[in-house]
Amino acid sequence: MYDECSSTQDIAKEIAHNSENGVCIVALHQTKGRGRLGRKWFSPEGGLWLSIIVKSLPDPMFLNPIFAVSAIEVIEQLYQLRAKIYWPNDIYVEESQKSKSAELTAVVKSHKLKKVGGILTEGIHSESSVYIGGIGINMNIEKQYFDEHNLDYATSLYIESGEKVGILDFLQNFLIKFNFLYELIQVQSCEYIDSAFKKYNGLLSRYVKIKHRKDEYIGQVIDMSIKDGILLKLKNNIVKSFNAEVVENVREVDYAEIL
Ligand code: BTN
Repeated sequence: MYDECSSTQDIAKEIAHNSENGVCIVALHQTKGRGRLGRKWFSPEGGLWLSIIVKSLPDPMFLNPIFAVSAIEVIEQLYQLRAKIYWPNDIYVEESQKSKSAELTAVVKSHKLKKVGGILTEGIHSESSVYIGGIGINMNIEKQYFDEHNLDYATSLYIESGEKVGILDFLQNFLIKFNFLYELIQVQSCEYIDSAFKKYNGLLSRYVKIKHRKDEYIGQVIDMSIKDGILLKLKNNIVKSFNAEVVENVREVDYAEIL
């Protein structure tokens, strides 16, 4: 575990060749954290930033779902927050706004979703069956940090649960879950991960705009699976599938935008 490093993805790539399957690199602060498509990933102290070297997978398409489902189930179990996958690689939690009135203690919940984490999976050019999966979770980051960096879509488990969360506790639970799902896939038992990936998906039946190369597609998400990606019913009723690798950007839109 590093107090500080450039990026756990880069360290994992450097040591992958001489490492065993399953080695995990953890950092409490990254100076060059990166996200999908080379985007900057803010990684201050107060987050959990980790990468895992994976050397044996029946199919690399399972790596992102194993990360996503492990993170979601741990977030729900430890903090009783509702978490969702925003396909392909974002983890969102339902923002809970608790308000108390003088007469009665009413808990009012709005159902806005905010990003609490993201997943990055990469291959290694020189070794065809070695993959590096990385995940970043905003654990104890304060609201002020997101405000100062104009990250108004982001939140942390601390902000949403109202209490500081244990980074090592999360890490331990996450690795146990990850290992369990990894083993399940090794024995060709993919039904659980397939149905969990679908169940936790926040975009099912929503209207989205997908950017793919120079084209944009707007439609309703009618289905999704690990193998086929997202299935979109377009304006003209044509159904088109999009694979996570080819999609640059997915944004939820109002129903009015598809008319
Ligand atoms: C995204 O949402 O674009 C994916 C973000 C992935 C961030 C994690 S943090 C640990 C690992 N190291 C990195 O530099 N990136 C990933």
